Amino acid sequence: MTATDAPLVPVPAAPAGHHHRRITVDRYAGAAGAVIGGVDLADELDDEVIGEIRRAVLDHHVVFFRGQSLTPAAQVAFSRRFGPASPVPFIEPVAEHPEVIAVVREASERQHFAFGSLWHSDFSFLPEPPFGSLLHALEVPPYGGDTLWANQHLALETLSPGLRATLRGLVGVHSARDGYAPKMQGVHDLFRGMTVHTSDAALAEQCHPVIRTHPETGREALFVNQQYTIGFDGWWEREQRSLLDFLFAHSTQDAFTVRWHWQVGDVAFWDNRCVQHMAMADFEGHRREMHRTTVAGDAPVRRVPA
Ligand code: SIN
Repeated sequence: MTATDAPLVPVPAAPAGHHHRRITVDRYAGAAGAVIGGVDLADELDDEVIGEIRRAVLDHHVVFFRGQSLTPAAQVAFSRRFGPASPVPFIEPVAEHPEVIAVVREASERQHFAFGSLWHSDFSFLPEPPFGSLLHALEVPPYGGDTLWANQHLALETLSPGLRATLRGLVGVHSARDGYAPKMQGVHDLFRGMTVHTSDAALAEQCHPVIRTHPETGREALFVNQQYTIGFDGWWEREQRSLLDFLFAHSTQDAFTVRWHWQVGDVAFWDNRCVQHMAMADFEGHRREMHRTTVAGDAPVRRVPA
C-alpha cells in the first residue's frame, strides 16, 4: 500500500474563540502537549465534553489530566467514548479487565530499560494500529519515570522537500519480532510486575506507508519507529540501514518532544497516528505502576490531495 486517491478529510472547524467551552486547555510545550482541566474523567461525560477532549487531542497530539482517580472499569468506560478497544497482543491484561494492561516496574528490577523504553508508536505492527492510548498513573517513583512524546508532523515537515518526496513513495515494514518473538522472552521475564507471552506470531510483517495522512486532520506525519519498523518494502538491509537510523534519530530529536513528569492520578491521552513515545527507566529501587487502555484505529494510508 502506498497512497490512495481518497480526498483529504477536512479538519472539523472549532468555532473561532470557542474551541473549548466546557474544559480548559493549556498548552504545555512548544512541540506538543496540553493540560486539560475542569473535568473528572470518572463522571459520565456528555458528548460535548468528549468532543472538546477529542478536539484537544487532535490539536495537541497528547493531552494530560491531573488528579484523576479511575478504576479499571472507569478507565475503560472513558476510553470507549473515543472508540472501541484495540486488540492488545502478547501482554497479559489486568484480571477481569481484558482492555487494561498494567505497566509495572518493581523496585527490585535492576535492568537499565523498562517496558516501552524504546521510541515507538503503540502496536504499529498491527494491520490497524491503535488511534489512541491512555495511561493512568497509580504509583510513581520519587524521581524519574517520565514519559516523552515526539511530534511526527514536525518530524516530517522539517525534512527537505527532496527527502519528503522520496519518503512519499516508500512503504515501511513493521514487525513485533524485536519486542515479542520468543527470543525476547528472557527480557520480558525481567519485568517482574508484568506477564508477557512471546510467540511466533510476532514474526509477522505488516506494511504501512512511511508517510501517513492523519484521518481526522488531513495532516501528514512520519510513521516509522525504532521499536517496530524493520525496513522498507523492497529494499535490502544494507541499503535501508542508514536511512532508517537517520529517520529514527531525526524523528525523536529534543525539539519535537514533550516530556511529562508523573504524579499519582495523572492521565495522558495520546494520538499514536502522529506521535511516538518512550518511557524513562531511571528510577531503580522504586516502584511505578500505570494502567493503559488503547483505542482502536484504522489502517494507515497516505492520501493524495485532490
Ligand atoms: C507505553 O509504552 O505505553 C508505556 C509508557 C510509559 O510507561 O511511560
